[in-house]
Amino acid sequence: MACNRNCGLLTGAIIGAVLAIFGGVLIPVGDHLIGKAIKKEAVIANGTIAFQNWLVPGSSVYRQFWIFNVENPSEVLEQGARPKLEQRGPYTYRVRYLPKENITENSDGTISYMLPNVARFEPDMSVGTENDTITCLNLAVVAAPAVYTNTFIQLLLNTWIKSSKSQMLQNRTVKEILWGYKDPFLNKVPFPLDPVLGVFYPYNGTFDGLYRVYTGKEDIRKTAIIESYKNKRNLSYWEGHCDLVNGTDGASFPPFVKKDQTLRFFSSDICRSIYGVYQGKHEVKGISLYRFAVPREAFASPAEVRDNYCFCTDQIISQNCTLAGVLDISACKAGRPVFISLPHFLHASESILNDVEGLSPNEEEHETFLDVEPITGFTLRFAKRLQVNLLVKPAPKIEALSKVQKPYIFPLLWLNESAVIGDEKAEMFRNKVTGRIKEIKISNKRLQR
Ligand SMILES: *[C@@H]1O[C@H](CO)[C@@H](O)[C@H](O)[C@H]1NC(C)=O
Ligand SMILES: *[C@@H]1O[C@H](CO)[C@@H](O)[C@H](O)[C@H]1NC(C)=O
Ligand SMILES: *[C@@H]1O[C@H](CO)[C@@H](O)[C@H](O)[C@H]1NC(C)=O
Ligand SMILES: *[C@@H]1O[C@H](CO)[C@@H](O)[C@H](O)[C@H]1NC(C)=O
Ligand SMILES: *[C@@H]1O[C@H](CO)[C@@H](O)[C@H](O)[C@H]1NC(C)=O
Ligand SMILES: *[C@@H]1O[C@H](CO)[C@@H](O)[C@H](O)[C@H]1NC(C)=O
Ligand SMILES: *[C@@H]1O[C@H](CO)[C@@H](O)[C@H](O)[C@H]1NC(C)=O
Ligand SMILES: *[C@@H]1O[C@H](CO)[C@@H](O)[C@H](O)[C@H]1NC(C)=O
Ligand SMILES: *[C@@H]1O[C@H](CO)[C@@H](O)[C@H](O)[C@H]1NC(C)=O
Repeated sequence: MACNRNCGLLTGAIIGAVLAIFGGVLIPVGDHLIGKAIKKEAVIANGTIAFQNWLVPGSSVYRQFWIFNVENPSEVLEQGARPKLEQRGPYTYRVRYLPKENITENSDGTISYMLPNVARFEPDMSVGTENDTITCLNLAVVAAPAVYTNTFIQLLLNTWIKSSKSQMLQNRTVKEILWGYKDPFLNKVPFPLDPVLGVFYPYNGTFDGLYRVYTGKEDIRKTAIIESYKNKRNLSYWEGHCDLVNGTDGASFPPFVKKDQTLRFFSSDICRSIYGVYQGKHEVKGISLYRFAVPREAFASPAEVRDNYCFCTDQIISQNCTLAGVLDISACKAGRPVFISLPHFLHASESILNDVEGLSPNEEEHETFLDVEPITGFTLRFAKRLQVNLLVKPAPKIEALSKVQKPYIFPLLWLNESAVIGDEKAEMFRNKVTGRIKEIKISNKRLQR
């Protein structure tokens, strides 16, 4: 990195500040000592303060769901009408409160772990109970013809759908839709398959990973970057560069974040790596943060952003890769026609939005952002928002889908997974980082004179 005198001074100050967080003491030290101290304290290794925050998130993480209720079910079922949707929510769950498991420090400067999945209902932050009933898409009926494309099998499936009295829509409680229910149609299928189904089934008691991330011990610029996921660097869902596990998990980034950087992170929920770009400064509890938001370009069609070519795997909905805003993740969901988008089809093409009624996207409510403290690289506030949809297609042999007029994307629910640094942690942060930077800058100036 080319650096004039000024730049050196600034980095000195910033490094001092990082030292201040981890060491708690401010000593004017030479570059050599600073480098050594950072190598010791800012890395993710048992014993450092960075490690404590890394093991369990420093604040409560909530996942809030808004589920789409179909307001005109009989018109949809009998005439294949455009569904009229109304969101119900939030139904709030606390997530990510268990520490990472099977943590192993490897000899190559990485650390590996499993992330336990757990969700606990928070009635006080929800509009109703988990027993609230919603009319929504029948997951099994819609997914079956996509998974089993053979006509003969579809004829068989049709008899079981009919004998179980399943339709294209169903009534389910919030708990069932999210975490799983025994599906009457799948229960009739005489192949050995799990008849339980749900948007996030199975969740509780399962694990995400194995993750292997750089600790930063050998190269501080790699801190928290994922080296491999499930022992691989590629996901095998996409072609080319789209398939890479590229970045951190979003909870933190290598220190000294600059505005012109692209912050890359991987999200197993959407089966891909994605990125945030600088959007502005935000203050949270007296701490100045850089907001990095996932830009519209990340969901643009390859016709507009060439690099997105490998995320376009569906020819029908994207109209030969000319439409934007939905991501076909069926390769990552055992062939089920799951499509991910931003909530309310934010940034998606008009025609996708117009296939359903009742959505109204807006950036403020529906975008995804990470507010990162630039010196340490810690994410101190975030809102990851996404919508889960299914592709509904006419299937001639399946009577329950015979009224469907054309393929379209049917929204099931959207969610906001968010957290903000707690009051106590924020105070510690103010005292030991932001407050100290000013002091160091001043004392550095004095030293210069
Ligand atoms: C950290 O090290 C201590 C002492 O060696 C050990 O007891 C503890 O289990 C370690 N923590 C983790 C999460 O590995
Ligand atoms: C953690 O390690 C133990 C012992 O090797 C193993 O039995 C267990 O399945 C591992 N847990 C996960 C989630 O991989
Ligand atoms: C998941 O497990 C936790 C802890 O055992 C429990 O409190 C919670 O209710 C479970 N959540 C669901 C959705 O079953
Ligand atoms: C939800 O329904 C179940 C089964 O009908 C019942 O046991 C439970 O008490 C209900 N929960 C609430 C919060 O109403
Ligand atoms: C859902 O429940 C309502 C009211 O009980 C009923 O009229 C409707 O037929 C049910 N819809 C489906 C798809 O089962
Ligand atoms: C992963 O993808 C990259 C980029 O396309 C490619 O160069 C590399 O060979 C792939 N690695 C594996 C193991 O498939
Ligand atoms: C991540 O993607 C960017 C942009 O495509 C690329 O410059 C970078 O080398 C990638 N990182 C890895 C580890 O592949
Ligand atoms: C997509 O491309 C195919 C083959 O080139 C063409 O037949 C079809 O009409 C195109 N569809 C759209 C929606 O443009
Ligand atoms: C998550 O986002 C939604 C939509 O913008 C918002 O209503 C909700 O308050 C957010 N949740 C938290 C905990 O901030």
